[in-house]
Amino acid sequence: MTGAQFGADQPVGVAVLGYGNVGSEVVRILQEQVDDLQQRVGAPLALRGIAVRDASRDRGLDPDLVTTDARALVERDDVDIVVELIGGIELPRELVLAALSSGKSVVTANKALLSEHTGELAEAAEARNVDLYFEAAVAGAIPVIRPLTQSLAGDRVHRVAGIVNGTTNFILSAMSETGADYGETLAEAGNRGYAEADPTADVEGFDAAAKAAILASIAFHSRVSASDVHREGISAITPQDFESAHALGCTIKLLSICERVPSPGGRDRISARVYPALVPDSHPLATVGGAFNAVVVEAENAGRLMFYGQGAGGAPTASAVMGDVVMAARNKVNGGRGPRESKYANLEIAPIGDIPTRYFVNMQVADKAGVLSAVAAEFAQHGVSISTVRQEGEGTGARLVVVTHTASDSALSATVSALEQLEFVTAVTSVLRLEGTHR
Ligand code: NDP
Ligand code: HSE
Repeated sequence: MTGAQFGADQPVGVAVLGYGNVGSEVVRILQEQVDDLQQRVGAPLALRGIAVRDASRDRGLDPDLVTTDARALVERDDVDIVVELIGGIELPRELVLAALSSGKSVVTANKALLSEHTGELAEAAEARNVDLYFEAAVAGAIPVIRPLTQSLAGDRVHRVAGIVNGTTNFILSAMSETGADYGETLAEAGNRGYAEADPTADVEGFDAAAKAAILASIAFHSRVSASDVHREGISAITPQDFESAHALGCTIKLLSICERVPSPGGRDRISARVYPALVPDSHPLATVGGAFNAVVVEAENAGRLMFYGQGAGGAPTASAVMGDVVMAARNKVNGGRGPRESKYANLEIAPIGDIPTRYFVNMQVADKAGVLSAVAAEFAQHGVSISTVRQEGEGTGARLVVVTHTASDSALSATVSALEQLEFVTAVTSVLRLEGTHR
């Protein structure tokens, strides 16, 4: 269809694939806000159908709208925009490609799909001059994709860092506040509906890495996939780590960090990484509690911008999805399209070993003379400068907590391997980065 055909009597047809947490809220908004949406778009939005896996469940929907044949729904001539809210990768990929290649715009919240297949999907959208929008894929309700792609299109972004996974932020916030261990708080996250039956994607950082890949791609005009993102999860964090962090005036957060890194050859590279890190209590990200998300963008001219809000949940995520639906529908009505994928910079990925940060190293040691100097000697030997050392506990329970100045990941890894060989170091119990402080 061409733009000129849409108007008061010619609706923009919308198909919703998936009627789960997010899909059901999108349908609710489409049905409750008919008049407002028509005014904003310039033509009515007509819900053509809803694809589900199990059509036998009573969901209080008009049975004529419900289908298990998502492919047939996507291919209907009266569908102009496909909203993909099924999740997973293979089926959504097939459906989204089918939609784009038949000239329909697509809105999706699917970060797993985008972090693996953005290139292919963007090319399919390009070939048919249609929109591929995904505001809800990163940080739920929080507008961050559109600010990066449009509001900051005239600026140069240096860093995008934040908390983009609500489940892990809930767990870490609860551990910090109550002193409870990881297992207890994970169970509580499950009881509250944050953690899924298989929480691996959240707690091992896969979800945050997929979001980091999307953020890095758009912030730095390059294609970055989830496999380019260095990833560490939170399942090894202990109450003892929090005790040590608190003693240093810090808390622990799972951070997604995307940075433009100057390199010796003169051409910038990209670092994209996800890991739990100590963050000073005074840092804005330290105060982001519960299942909330926040993203801090640093741009050359705009300076520092912070985006904060609900990063998950049916209604908040549906808000972002509907923003994209309205934009895609307006573009249909006006006969145009939104911004294309921007990948002109084509920057390379910097390996994690090259990335300098400060570190916090917690080790169990024998409590006797000479231990501290031997430990300090290993740091010196590998060119890692120590900022502070604390002893916690005594006798067999003695621990040394070392905070370093900035060091490369490779120098720190070599130091830790050497420490593990020392006879009076019983164990290096944790190694975490320290972010958000002057180096
Ligand atoms: P749900 O698991 O709640 O819903 C998935 C829906 O897809 C269900 O209605 C299911 O049908 C339907 N479905 C599954 N397989 C098929 C199939 N083969 N054909 C047709 N329909 C199918 O997922 P969410 O709503 O939580 O998430 C949807 C997407 O949004 C995911 O990509 C997720 O990553 C993303 N997202 C989710 C957020 C959240 O807070 N939940 C936040 C941000 C993004 P049935 O109901 O019959 O089982
Ligand atoms: N599992 C994700 C989270 C949902 O906990 O943030 C939002 O993408």
